[in-house]
Amino acid sequence: MDRRRFLQGSLATAAATTLGTAATPSALAAATDRPSLPLPNLIDVGQSGRLDLVAQHGNQSFFSGNPSATLGYNQDYLGPIVRARRGQDVAVRLLNDLQQPVATHWHGLLVPGNADGGPHQAIRPGGVWEPVLSIDQPPSTAWFHAHTHPHTARQVYAGLAGVFQIDDGRDDERGLPHQHGVDDFTLVIQDRRFDPLGRLGMMDRMHGFQGDHILVNGAHYPRARMPRSVVRLRLLNGSNARIYHLRFDDDRPMHVIASDSGYRPQPVAADELRLAPGERIEVLVDFGDGHDARLVTGPDQNQGGPGMMGMMSSLRSFTTSVLEGDTPVLSFHPGSRKATVDQLPETIDDELPAPPTEFAQRRHFSLDMMLGGMPMMGGRGGPTMGINGRPFDMQHINEQTSLGTTEHWIIESNMLMHPFHIHGVRFRVLADENGRSPRLENQGYKDTVLVDGRAEIAVEFTQPADRETPFMYHCHILEHEDAGMMGHFIVS
Ligand code: C2O
Ligand code: CU
Ligand code: CU
Repeated sequence: MDRRRFLQGSLATAAATTLGTAATPSALAAATDRPSLPLPNLIDVGQSGRLDLVAQHGNQSFFSGNPSATLGYNQDYLGPIVRARRGQDVAVRLLNDLQQPVATHWHGLLVPGNADGGPHQAIRPGGVWEPVLSIDQPPSTAWFHAHTHPHTARQVYAGLAGVFQIDDGRDDERGLPHQHGVDDFTLVIQDRRFDPLGRLGMMDRMHGFQGDHILVNGAHYPRARMPRSVVRLRLLNGSNARIYHLRFDDDRPMHVIASDSGYRPQPVAADELRLAPGERIEVLVDFGDGHDARLVTGPDQNQGGPGMMGMMSSLRSFTTSVLEGDTPVLSFHPGSRKATVDQLPETIDDELPAPPTEFAQRRHFSLDMMLGGMPMMGGRGGPTMGINGRPFDMQHINEQTSLGTTEHWIIESNMLMHPFHIHGVRFRVLADENGRSPRLENQGYKDTVLVDGRAEIAVEFTQPADRETPFMYHCHILEHEDAGMMGHFIVS
């Protein structure tokens, strides 16, 4: 299909399934020039060892003309990319310049509970938080985002999220592109909903929020100039609930080089990659042929089965914005200039050790959607969700684990798939869907895994966390987390 028909077709679908009028933001976007891919500011803290962040109010015009009220770190919407060196300390000074409390969590950093930024560490309006982050983990793409119970979904949706990269200075030896904005692109993928004037719209609770427009670094279906080389894409699903199925419309392969918590030994080619909220995946893509290509996503199928829909038919009207078919996410336009890498490396990192087979403990977690019968919608509290039959309770520590041990965690989901995330650890996926050996996305070290049925993971506890500042585990569909699908544990 040629580019123009592809574009018109998918935009027409998006418009029809959402707002249904001619004055939709989609129509606006089709009528005007598409934006270029915004490149977030890179703050390299390798030299200074200092990181100053301000959680602030902003205004962002997503579509020409009408600004939306947003939140961001150091900017109107989203935040900078922080790049830190393995082995260094980063002294953070985070000022909360908002009129609401904000906790800020370093998702993917292996730091003790007292620096982790979970809901127990909310910063009051006007307050400052000064954790020191001792970076002692392999290179990876982590991120930071609001984690203020029970307002995480709203605050992240409004823009409180940024990226945190860990670098060890050895990417040249590995043959990996690493020049930010030249051949190394960080892509924060989020879905958002807009009113007919192009302003950010509201959210849902039960399925988690689903938007009708996909943004990359805050721009709707942007264009990115590429070198005629091998480039690195660091993909982060920063959406509240949407699961992406990403592929190139010309079927060019994506060569996976890293999962959430670091590199894999060799690149592995994939045609399509699934990315759940909270997950990161890094890929190499070869634009040496000089041809334009588009990254697209298939529909999110995480809407529950017929039983789910029947049970919650009253909720359907809240979730009308399902994107059907392929939706374009980002288009790539290679020029004539080359960057430094034009061949895929054969080896990136050491072989992964075999997953552990001996465990200090086994624990079961069931991700429960409707505690106490039917969900209440419209009421102030919204639905109540939980883990092992219990909604999150700030006062009740759910689990106690021992520093230096590895445990076997078995996580079960029902009705929907849930991306399960654990703070302060990395883990290996032993089996993803009901005993099956892990799919490509789940190989290597991770901190978030999409649970579809029953998943089993081997979790390493290398960071301490006490009662005052425990680690969290939760569903990364942010509406589920806010509704109580979260627990916390100490490591001592
Ligand atoms: Cu990315 Cu507890 O979160
Ligand atoms: Cu986390
Ligand atoms: Cu969930």
